[in-house]
Amino acid sequence: MGFPLTRLRRLRRTPALRSLVRETRLTPDCLVYPLFVCPGDGVRREVPSMPGVFNLSIDEAVREARETHALGVPALILFGLPEKKDEVATGAWDENGIVQRAAHAIKSEVREILLVGDVCLCEYTSHGHCGVFKLSPQHPLGAAVASPPTARADYEIENDATLELLARTAVSLARAGVDIIAPSDMMDGRVGAIRKALDHAGFENTPILSYAAKFASAFYGPFREAADSAPQFGDRRSYQMDGANRREALREIALDVEEGADMVMVKPAMPYLDVIAAARERFDVPIAAYQVSGEYAMIEAAARNRWLERDRVMVESLISIRRAGAGMIVTYFAKDAARLLG
Ligand code: PBG
Repeated sequence: MGFPLTRLRRLRRTPALRSLVRETRLTPDCLVYPLFVCPGDGVRREVPSMPGVFNLSIDEAVREARETHALGVPALILFGLPEKKDEVATGAWDENGIVQRAAHAIKSEVREILLVGDVCLCEYTSHGHCGVFKLSPQHPLGAAVASPPTARADYEIENDATLELLARTAVSLARAGVDIIAPSDMMDGRVGAIRKALDHAGFENTPILSYAAKFASAFYGPFREAADSAPQFGDRRSYQMDGANRREALREIALDVEEGADMVMVKPAMPYLDVIAAARERFDVPIAAYQVSGEYAMIEAAARNRWLERDRVMVESLISIRRAGAGMIVTYFAKDAARLLG
């Protein structure tokens, strides 16, 4: 049944025909918009490597929440820049932490918006790692941290000791009004630990969106400027995934689902579309993808140079992530995309 009987161009002739047969749709209601909340009042500081993205004080974050909601974007994901950092990430689980206060303020003003709480320690630790660390016994400083270790053999990010702090963070966020708990630290067993702690605290109805397949990616660069969360020594390769591994990503997802994850996320998005597609094929939980800071920065930079048409590339990138199988997309383009799709 080839040519001339079959002519695929018949269904491409007009916008109405193309729309009628479109397989994948992008609507504002599948987008999640990230906010970076910082101390102060009336603060709106643009992130140099992410034009159009800001560090916002709580009052400004509330304004942003109102606007996002009005555009039909149903959810925000919150990141915090604490006043002080320390070795045990007190700012992450403090009842009065920056994200806890922001969540409370946003929920009292914009009741309907869904709040996703990113659960991780890296924005709150003085060393910028996603967990607590200990010096190896061989390190000349022993257990005392007078100066940061540099060599890989000098330290270890401690998995099990971190779990308790993550669980504490999750409960404090739920108490502050966060609707969805999203651990992004990549410690083993954290979903189970968080589920248990949430249930114990009476939050058995609070869902977990696990960053299950999170790769150790250079595309997070601009985020670390936005959230001031770059590791002060070493890198995240001992806990985030190796970008070469798809089968391992599926194991990560399977384990998180077993531990009680209600939804799972793949991150970054565009460089890992095959992982999104494989996850969609294998699992029946809702799948999210995070179009990360570097993906945003690349498009934004090219557009500013007039090397790419921003709006078309933005929509095409989001459609490709949906087509791969992501039901939800966390993206810095959420507001602009919603405006365009309006
Ligand atoms: C926290 C976290 C990171 C991102 C989301 N949660 C940074 C990291 O792991 O270094 C990255 C998001 C982005 O690049 O937009 N661990």
